[in-house]
Amino acid sequence: MLSKRKQKFSHTTPTPVDILTGYAHWAESYQAAPHNPLMEVEQQAMLSLMPVDLRDYTCLDVACGSGRYMLLLQARRAGQVVGVDYSADMLAQAKKVDLGGQLIRGPFSPLPFPDNSFDLISCGMAVGHEKNLAQVIGELSRVLRFGGLLIYSDLHPFGATAGWKRTFAAANGTTYQLEHHFHTIDDHHAACRQAGLKIETILEPTLNPESAPHPNPVVLVIKAVKSIPNPNPNPNLQSLTSNL
Ligand SMILES: C[S@@+](CC[C@H](N)C(=O)[O-])C[C@H]1O[C@@H](n2cnc3c(N)ncnc32)[C@H](O)[C@@H]1O
Repeated sequence: MLSKRKQKFSHTTPTPVDILTGYAHWAESYQAAPHNPLMEVEQQAMLSLMPVDLRDYTCLDVACGSGRYMLLLQARRAGQVVGVDYSADMLAQAKKVDLGGQLIRGPFSPLPFPDNSFDLISCGMAVGHEKNLAQVIGELSRVLRFGGLLIYSDLHPFGATAGWKRTFAAANGTTYQLEHHFHTIDDHHAACRQAGLKIETILEPTLNPESAPHPNPVVLVIKAVKSIPNPNPNPNLQSLTSNL
């Protein structure tokens, strides 16, 4: 997933692809479980910030991919779990897993849900695909109820100076590079503040030393609480309640 800017690949340099094309190539092999050392520490940190009993929570997993966090939310007995993702191929992969939640195709912005719909929103390793962080966080906050929790992760901004790229090797042997925008911790603070979210915790885990020693943090994991209600609920989106 991470590669150094100047790294030489044995066969080819990464081929840049847009998000939908990239995930179409990746979906078939994208497991609903950590599949690299970075995802292991990321998942551990995300789970450490989530309530252990989610029975009273209506949950949304944004950019759910093949359903990793939907499974984890259900393992914590979430009252209801909805997953949304832009990639039809990733959703098709999620459908192969016994998720027991509802899957909806849709983008970050606008999210296809009315204001104040969810008690908890998770979003794993996806916001960096978007350049406009404030817009994404604003949408996540809009559909979160007042007092609700947002728990999300992304590549650590240290990667910008280290020259990390978002790459993967597809089954066809090609290494693809996905669009990624490194957002600083200040960017996250500003985006959350603007969206009425109060950041409670920021975790910056490094890799487990036994898997692959790496002195710097590899991911950013943020927990925020919606502390300011939406100013003007959007009436145009109320008709979408039938999705839930
Ligand atoms: C690295 S995968 C993470 C999948 C899952 N959250 C996980 O952690 O296992 C990123 C996901 O973000 C989705 N994604 C990227 N851009 C998106 C957008 N603009 N709107 C919705 N989903 C998007 C991709 O389709 C992909 O499934």
